[in-house]
Amino acid sequence: MIVCVCHNISDRKIRQAVDAGMDTMPQLRENLALGTCCGKCHFSAKQVLKKCVSDK
Ligand code: FES
Repeated sequence: MIVCVCHNISDRKIRQAVDAGMDTMPQLRENLALGTCCGKCHFSAKQVLKKCVSDK
């Protein structure tokens, strides 16, 4: 599922980033540019991040 349309970032990509140690929104923003365009994905990205971190 695509979470960030602007940067074509899927939930799988977020999971891979979390597995690599990027487990905060600022880190994802910095490394993947997640949410740095229109910002509409911010809420859903946060939800996905939360789920990935809790699954760790
Ligand atoms: Fe993520 Fe636009 S959908 S910045």
